[in-house]
Amino acid sequence: MSSIETGGRFSRKTCPFPTPVDRAAVENIVKPFILDDAVYKRVCDVMLDNFNKGLGKETNAEARVKMFPTYVRSVPDGTEEGDFLALDLGGTNFRVLLISLKGQEVNMESKIFLIPQHIMLGTGIQLFDHIADCIYKFMKEQKIEKKTLPLGFTFSFPCKQLGLAKAKLTTWTKGFKCEGVEGNDIVQLLHEAIKRKGDMEVECLAVINDTVGALMSCAHSDRQCAIGLILGTGTNACYIEKLENVGLWDSDYNDPKEVIINTEWGAMGDDGGLDFLITEYDKHVDKHSINGGKQIYEKMISGMYMGEIVRLVLEKLRRNGLLFGGVGSEELSKRGRFYTKYVSEIESDVDESDFKSTKQVFEELELTNYTDEDCRIALYVCSLVSTRAAYLASAGIATLLNKMGRKDVSVAVDGSLYRFHPHFHDLMVEKIEKLVTPGIRFKLMLSHDGSGKGAALVAAVANRLRDEEAKKEKDCKPNED
Ligand code: GLC
Repeated sequence: MSSIETGGRFSRKTCPFPTPVDRAAVENIVKPFILDDAVYKRVCDVMLDNFNKGLGKETNAEARVKMFPTYVRSVPDGTEEGDFLALDLGGTNFRVLLISLKGQEVNMESKIFLIPQHIMLGTGIQLFDHIADCIYKFMKEQKIEKKTLPLGFTFSFPCKQLGLAKAKLTTWTKGFKCEGVEGNDIVQLLHEAIKRKGDMEVECLAVINDTVGALMSCAHSDRQCAIGLILGTGTNACYIEKLENVGLWDSDYNDPKEVIINTEWGAMGDDGGLDFLITEYDKHVDKHSINGGKQIYEKMISGMYMGEIVRLVLEKLRRNGLLFGGVGSEELSKRGRFYTKYVSEIESDVDESDFKSTKQVFEELELTNYTDEDCRIALYVCSLVSTRAAYLASAGIATLLNKMGRKDVSVAVDGSLYRFHPHFHDLMVEKIEKLVTPGIRFKLMLSHDGSGKGAALVAAVANRLRDEEAKKEKDCKPNED
C-alpha cells in the first residue's frame, strides 16, 4: 500500500489515494477510543474514590465530585395533588410548565422559550429577568396570572443546597456563564426578578437538579427507582444514600434515614484522575471550552461535546488523506459545527449499502468528495466515540449500583443523547452487566419529562409539609376567644 500523505488540503485528482484506504493508518488514529474492561474497571475505582471523598466531612472541601445532599428525603407516594408551576433550566431551552397532579394522573401544559447566547453569557440579572418575563407570558396565555401557584424549579447546575428552597450555584457548567450568579442563592435571584416584573404571585418551594427530577418522576410509579441519570447536553447522576454514609449531612436523622445525593459526577477527572484514558481530542475539546479544566468526565460523554470529538477525529483522518480524499469543507472545519445529533443519525444507518443518513449529514456539511468507504469510516468513528461515552457512563452507574448494594434497582434515565442515540441503551446494559457485582439486578428506564413532573412533585410534597406545619401551629395556639 502506498504511503499516506499528511497535512494540508489537496484534491483527489492531484493526489490519488489508495482505495480502500490504509486501514491500519485509520486504526492508528482511532485506537485511543478502544478501551478494554480493565480500563473501565479502573474508572469505577476512581469514581468510588471520588464519591467517598465527596461524601466525607473532612475531604469534601478538596473533592472535585461534590456529592451534594439535596434535602429531598422521600420519593413521592402517588397521593400528591394540585396545580403547580415548574421551571426547567439547564439545557439549550428554558421551559415553563403548568402541571396538575391527581394520584397517578398527571396533566401538563408547557411552553419552550429560547435562551439566546448573549443571555447565557450575560449577567445574572438579565438571565433571571428573562426567566420572569417567560413565566409571565406563560401565565397570561394559560390565564392563571391571578392565581398564586407553588413552583418547583429544575435548575440543572451544581448547587450547594442549604434547604429544599435554598440553593447556591457553585459553578456554571455546559454553555452558561452568567456573571453574578455563582455563590448566590438562585431562589432569591428568581424571587427578586419576579418582584421586579410585578403583576404575578409565584413562590418557589423547591429547587431540584434534573437528575433528581428524573428519579422522582420514575419513582412515582416504580418503588425500586433509586438512581436518576441524565445523558443530554451534560451528564450527571443522583441516587438514594443512607444518612449514615453522608459525613456531610448536617440536618436531622429522622426517618427515612436516607437522602438523595446529587453527585455532579461530570467533574470527575478535573484533578487529573482520568488522565490515563484522556485522548488528544478530549484535550482539544477541553482547551477550547468556556470552562477549561472542568467537567472532564462530562466532556468525554455528553451531547454538548460528542459531536465535536467526532469532528476532530474526522478532520485528522481527512488531513491524513484517509477521508474524503483529503478534501474537507469550510463547514467541517468549523468548531462545534458537527452536532451530536449527527452521530445518532449516522449510526442509524443500519443498511450499510445505502448510507442514506450519513450522506445527508455530509451534504449538510457541504462535503461533496465522498465515497462509500468514507461513509463506512465516518460511521466507524461515530460508533467508537459514542461507545466509549456509553461505557464510561456505565462505569459510573455500576459504581453507584455496587455502592448502594440493593438487590433490585431501576435507573431513571433522561436526556437527548440517551433518547435519540440508536444504541446507547443497549451498550450501557451490556457494559453495566460486566461491571456490576453479581446478584445485583438493574433496569434502565426512560424517564418521561422528569424535569417538569419531578419539580412539580417535589413542590407538591413541600407544599403539603408546609400546610401541615401551618395547621399544627394553628392547633397549638391557645384559643383567643
Ligand atoms: C451538568 C450539570 C448538572 C446536570 C447535568 C445534566 O453536569 O452540572 O447539574 O445535572 O449537566 O443536565
